Amino acid sequence: MTILLAGAAGYIGSHTAIALAQAGYDVAIVDDFSNSSPEAVRRCEELAGVKMPLYQADAADRAAMEDIFAQVRPAAVIHFAGFKAVGESVAKPLKYYRNNLDTTLTLLECMAKAGTKAFIFSSSATVYGARAAVPYTEQSETGGCTNPYGWTKLMIEQIAADTAKADPDMSVVLLRYFNPVGAHPSGRIGENPSGVPNNLMPYITQVAVGRLPQLNVFGDDYPTPDGTGVRDYIHVCDLAEGHVKALEYALEHKGTEVFNLGTGHGVSVLELVHAFERASGVKIPYRIAPRRAGDLAEVYADPAKAERVLGWKATRTVEDMCADSWRWQSNNPNGY
Ligand code: UFG
Repeated sequence: MTILLAGAAGYIGSHTAIALAQAGYDVAIVDDFSNSSPEAVRRCEELAGVKMPLYQADAADRAAMEDIFAQVRPAAVIHFAGFKAVGESVAKPLKYYRNNLDTTLTLLECMAKAGTKAFIFSSSATVYGARAAVPYTEQSETGGCTNPYGWTKLMIEQIAADTAKADPDMSVVLLRYFNPVGAHPSGRIGENPSGVPNNLMPYITQVAVGRLPQLNVFGDDYPTPDGTGVRDYIHVCDLAEGHVKALEYALEHKGTEVFNLGTGHGVSVLELVHAFERASGVKIPYRIAPRRAGDLAEVYADPAKAERVLGWKATRTVEDMCADSWRWQSNNPNGY
């Protein structure tokens, strides 16, 4: 059974490709490498010990995607293809709305034409915006997003759910990721941001490897135990395994389901810095900087639904996340 992964040369897609191959699925990959490298796919094949047919195409390109669907005949589509830099989305909203919505519309149209009935989408905890109280459950209020990137995630959720409503044979699973970090334990694949990282863990690892001089901690006056922001960091391999469970569910059910993929545990910026220092043996110089616009004090999941319905639970620790992130970065100081 072949699963088509759009955007799978990226961070979460590449780890999921390996998990799916290990679970016995055939994986076909579409990526335009606008923010990723074909080397990631090569390494996925090496780690999984199988071939993963690779199609270089923009997932929004209807003609190219129709050809790919005709060749691959996927049983399901997992949609990772999207722009994800929160700050850039504020500066270039149309770029984000155009790309993130267009890729989704094309994939769903191609699925309808090809008769593919299962769709899994990389959504984000960002859809809860600033309105709900932590821990977020799947019933928490969504909306009030602070940036266009977040709005694209919420709009895509709506588009996919409406598509499933109109086709009773269709299955949509919306996965709301919390903060993915870590890397494959081999140290061969990992997060490879272009330019200066926006996110905390790749920033820490680039300071550790000497590419950046020091970490800026965005605010130490939040109403949290140590004053720094609290997030629900989840190991990318746990997240990848969540996709395998979500796929099994999507292949057996109809309609739309939403799942939080998080650990349920909040970790502060400084707690993560110190856990990284213990795991790597490298000191991370930091300074306290002003708060970053749009950041919330605390974001963490109630992950009970995924455990109850999918039989999935994150098992890797913060130490695992730090050790694996460090192994990836120190073995690949300049990425792929
Ligand atoms: N932080 C720093 N310094 C940095 C980077 C981050 O102190 O250089 C802090 C932030 O202020 C925040 C925490 O580290 O408290 C985590 O920040 P990230 O940028 O790593 O992650 P966010 O929680 O801001 O955003 C992530 C994803 C988004 C997603 C969001 C959902 O990057 O894609 O979670 O909640 F939308």
